[in-house]
Formats: sequence, structure tokens, C-alpha cells
Amino acid sequence: MSIRFAPESARFWHNARMDPKFFAKRRQEVMQQMGGGVAILPTAPVRPRNRDVHYLYRPDSDFYYLTHFPEPEAVAVLVPGRAHGEYILFCRDRHPEKEIWEGRRAGLDGAREHYGADDAFPIDDIDEILPGLLENREKVFYSMGRYPDFDTHLMNWVNEVRGKARNGVNAPGEFVDLHHIVHEMRLIKRPEEIKLMKRAAKVSAAAHRRAMQACKPGMMEYEVEAELLYEFRKGGSEYTAYPPIVGGGANACVLHYNENNAELKNGDMLLIDAGAEIDGYAADITRTFPVNGKFKGEQKAVYEIVLAAQLAAIEQVRVGKHWNEPHEAAVRVLTQGLKDLGILKGDVAGHIEQGDYKRFYMHRTGHWLGMDVHDVGDYKLGEAWRELEAGMVLTVEPGLYIAEGSKDVDARWWNIGIRIEDDVLVTREGNEVLSREAPKAVDEIEALMKEKSG
Ligand code: GLY
Ligand code: MN
Ligand code: MN
Repeated sequence: MSIRFAPESARFWHNARMDPKFFAKRRQEVMQQMGGGVAILPTAPVRPRNRDVHYLYRPDSDFYYLTHFPEPEAVAVLVPGRAHGEYILFCRDRHPEKEIWEGRRAGLDGAREHYGADDAFPIDDIDEILPGLLENREKVFYSMGRYPDFDTHLMNWVNEVRGKARNGVNAPGEFVDLHHIVHEMRLIKRPEEIKLMKRAAKVSAAAHRRAMQACKPGMMEYEVEAELLYEFRKGGSEYTAYPPIVGGGANACVLHYNENNAELKNGDMLLIDAGAEIDGYAADITRTFPVNGKFKGEQKAVYEIVLAAQLAAIEQVRVGKHWNEPHEAAVRVLTQGLKDLGILKGDVAGHIEQGDYKRFYMHRTGHWLGMDVHDVGDYKLGEAWRELEAGMVLTVEPGLYIAEGSKDVDARWWNIGIRIEDDVLVTREGNEVLSREAPKAVDEIEALMKEKSG
């Protein structure tokens, strides 16, 4: 037997922080909305990295949302009204020899005892058992297209049931996208989820503070990244929510820069977009600050505009406002600011109308945040932007990016790239900025950065 570097479980294994009752309640809710039929949710496959090494394992978000089960090779089946139990989990059987090499498994008993399965079967037996669960069920609820290999398995199982028609067995005739039910649920965060999101934001904010204090001219971007990762892991985060962006100077104008391997220069700004994930919930925070701890004139001027835009956008995050209102507020402040700096000339309303600001602000002001950094949930209902409701969490992240060589822009503005991003919970009273412990006012940042060097 050779050592395989296979991720036999998500790192959440040792970290289970939520009460199994929460998941039982969520499954009940899904089953009520299904009103019959059968729901099938496979978890994510293990993905190869190189030769016999795999990427660290992370379960599928919908699957984990309803099961809290951290291992790969698992399929959850919900069968409302089934006499022998409505929640069936297919998972890996115990295997003492493999577990010595590859890590512990819950096994069938663990699936029942610790994860609330009414019934558990070995994943190796799924071909024999699953078709029987589809017999005489009209609807199958399933997220088609996410895992193409699993789609094929499902079609084979359905065909097997169709083959029994002459024995009086009916095969399912209707396939319903399970997204609709689960993603609407995931959009409104419950108190137990908000607790985890607050923790992810707190740990991430601490990491941004640490990065600000560590940063000095001559350091490499990856050295600053190391400070972030240290704080994430120390805070109990199992994974980064997405690859951290640590971009100094001109690199701040590359939106998804993540090489993180350049030297940080005296007089440049540094943009860091980094967030931790805790038990499946993401934080997503961006801060931009001067490498040497002191904002220069042009940098400060652009920064203050982005900050004002961000505060104006956060102001719009409240119950009853629609999804696009924070973006519209940010665009107004940014466009006015570009005009005040002389970077755009002429009529502000016209520039907004024509989208002229998009040369310097080419992305939107935010997205839903949750188990996925760009979380699930519709932004429009029909033709209309969706209204904000208590329990939704979104990012507010305006920016301005003035790339080198920007036409008709004075060179003194070039290579300034600034984004400020916070995670905001819609509350009944207004909103709560979950990431508020990461400083963003100019004087707060300068004071914090001085502290370390003083
Ligand atoms: N970090 C990805 C984003 O801000 O959307
Ligand atoms: Mn974001
Ligand atoms: Mn971000």
C-alpha cells in the first residue's frame, strides 16, 4: 500500500460546530416544500491536483447545508413520507485498515448517530438500492448539470425503473431543479448561520489588521499573504473562502490578481482581498492601504471617494430597498468624485447614463455572501430587482482602478487601484457591518500602521 495524499474528509470533521437539530429542521423544510417525490443530493467529488495528490476536500454547499456531513463519496436522499425513514445517507463504510492511512470515517452507524440519518447504506451499494427509492415517485428533485458524472448515474437508475413498467412500477415523470427550494432557503441566513458568518468576518478582519501592521516597503506580497493565512488558521478557519488577492502598486488594478509574488514598493498602495471560511461560511473583505503607512495626496483623494461611495452604498442596505440601490448610490458618488478630481469632465448625470465611469469602476457593488463567496439566491424576481429582507448578507465593495496609461488621465493618478469591501447583514432595524473590525478610515489605518513601527 502506498501513501496517497487523498483528502478523506473535509477539515470540518473536527470542527462541527452546529447542532444536528438545525440540519434536521432544514431537511424538514425542504420536504414540506417538495410535497412528495424524492430529492437526491450528491456531495462534491474529490478533485485531483497532480499525480496522486488531491485538492483539500470541501463538500458541496447544498449537500453540506442539509447534512453537515463532511466526507466525500456521499449522497443524501430525502423521501417525504417514507415509512422506514425520510432521510437516507449513502456513505463510505468503515474500513479500519484504510482509516489508518487515510483518516477516520463516520461509517453507517456514525451517519445515523452523529448526522441524523434515518437510514444509512454503503455508497458501494447505491446502484442496487437507489432505483427502488425512485419507484412510484412522480417527481425527482435534483440539481441537474452540476456534477455531470452523477447526472449519468441518475439517468441510468431512472431507466432501470422505466424498464419495470410492465410489472406495474411507475417511473418518475417529472424532474424539478432542487436549486429553487434550497437556494431560497440559503439566501435568508438563520441565527445559527449568522453566528458563523460573524466569526468568519471577525477572524478575517483580524487578519487584515495583522497584514496592515506587518506590511513595510521591501516585503514581498506573499509575505503579507502569509500573515493573513496565519491569522485565518489560528482563528480556526478551515480554508480560505477564495484565493487571497494581495496586489501592490499596479497589481491592484488587476481585479483577480493572485500571483502575490511582487515586491511592495515604498510609496505604493496595497490592495488585499481575503476572507476566511468557517464551517462552510465565507467572509469576503477588501482593504487598500499605503505600503509605508502614510497616504499620499492622490492616493488619499481617490481613497476618500471610494470610502464615501461605500458608506453611501451601505446606507442603502436596509429592508425594503432593492438589490440595485446600493450600487446606484455607489456609482453616483464615484462618478461625482471622478469629476471633482478632473478625471471625468462634463456632466455627471450624463456620465452615469452613458456608463463612462466603467473605465474606472468595471464591476458591481456586491453579491450575496454565505456558504459560497458569491452565494446563491436570485437577484431579480421576474423583471424587478429583489427587495432586501432581514437575514440576507451581501458584500458592499465599490472601487476605482486607474490603470497605467489611462487615456486622457494625468499620469499622477495612474496605478492607483482601490477597493473597500465589507460584509453586511440586513437586520430588521437597518444593517450590521460584520467586518467592521477591519479599519477603513484614513486616520484609523495610519494610526494602526504606525503602532507597529512606533
Ligand atoms: N473576493 C471576490 C469578490 O470580492 O467578489
Ligand atoms: Mn466580494
Ligand atoms: Mn472580495
